[in-house]
Amino acid sequence: MPVPNSLEIRTTTIVPPLVMAPMAGITHNPFRVLVEEIGGCGLFYTEMLSAAAVANESPGRSFYLQNHLKHTPLFYQLLVYEPSQVAPALEKLVKCNCQGIDVNLGCTAPPIMKKGGGLALMLDFERCSKTIRELRSLTELPLTVKLRLGDRADWDYLGKLCRMLEDRGVDAITVHGRLKADRFKRPAKWDFIEKVKQMVSVPVIGNGDVTDSQSARMMFKETGCEAVMIGRAAVTKPWIFREIASEIWPEIFPHKETVSYRDIYERYVKLIKKYLPEERQLGRLKEFTAYFAQNFKFGHTLWRSVQNASSVEESLEKARLFLEHHSKEIVSTTKQT
Ligand SMILES: Cc1cc2nc3c(=O)[nH]c(=O)nc-3n(C[C@H](O)[C@H](O)[C@H](O)COP(=O)(O)O)c2cc1C
Repeated sequence: MPVPNSLEIRTTTIVPPLVMAPMAGITHNPFRVLVEEIGGCGLFYTEMLSAAAVANESPGRSFYLQNHLKHTPLFYQLLVYEPSQVAPALEKLVKCNCQGIDVNLGCTAPPIMKKGGGLALMLDFERCSKTIRELRSLTELPLTVKLRLGDRADWDYLGKLCRMLEDRGVDAITVHGRLKADRFKRPAKWDFIEKVKQMVSVPVIGNGDVTDSQSARMMFKETGCEAVMIGRAAVTKPWIFREIASEIWPEIFPHKETVSYRDIYERYVKLIKKYLPEERQLGRLKEFTAYFAQNFKFGHTLWRSVQNASSVEESLEKARLFLEHHSKEIVSTTKQT
């Protein structure tokens, strides 16, 4: 079967069907802007946002809620503990440039599960059902969920849950092919993604271990998913969507110009300085650098020097010294200044 070149989720068209995964501390507004500038990503998600906290945020001022994407849709991912948290959060989100809502049904962090969010919500059938019903009754925006496979391999539960989600009106289901205990130690189980695909008629977004165009093609082919979501590899290589898109859909995403590692890093720094409050900039830069450094054989040198820096300027200076030796051109982009 040929790889599709777009996906419709309710009212939203996603071109190409490559999606950036929600990642706490990473997929903030400036990082999303960087990836959009490079191109090739058809849909973005925010990092997970506690519904209770969103209700108290100010859409015009909160850096968690800001959205400066120019033309790519952004879905806001909510961490919900109780269905009653949904309405006040939605009231805020409709005042943002929000094109869709996603519910986190996969987070396994103990403090979140203890409060009943993430995977704990997925495993509580009734509460999950009420949450989705509440959301669907309140919004016409595209509504998606992102789930893991569960705490153990239980096809019956997974099937029952996915059918319930579909009946309650979700417009797409993202499946991260891992059980709770898998963490990132074991490879993602793509056969589960395929199984979910066979059980539901809404689009399925496959997620787990896609790192290049070959693995993206394989995921489309082996699972039958309608879109591929990429997480960690997109932080290491913010150009990965562009690279995959120009290999799979060259007529829509031709190669344009090339940029260097240094260009990408400097642009990231410029964007976090523009959009994030000062007290958040250094922490976010360090998190990004931990992934970005994986591009280089001696990347730990870059990582360590930025980890030890006490300001964004010092980090940038140290990174420049390292990147001078790695100015190799890397990718075709639609780089903007
Ligand atoms: C640092 C980090 C933060 C993450 N935060 C979230 C999150 O906020 N919401 C979520 O649904 N998944 C989160 N995830 C999981 C990713 O969205 C994705 O499912 C996972 O990384 C597997 O995809 P990959 O193999 O392409 O990395 C996070 C993963 C990482 C590595």
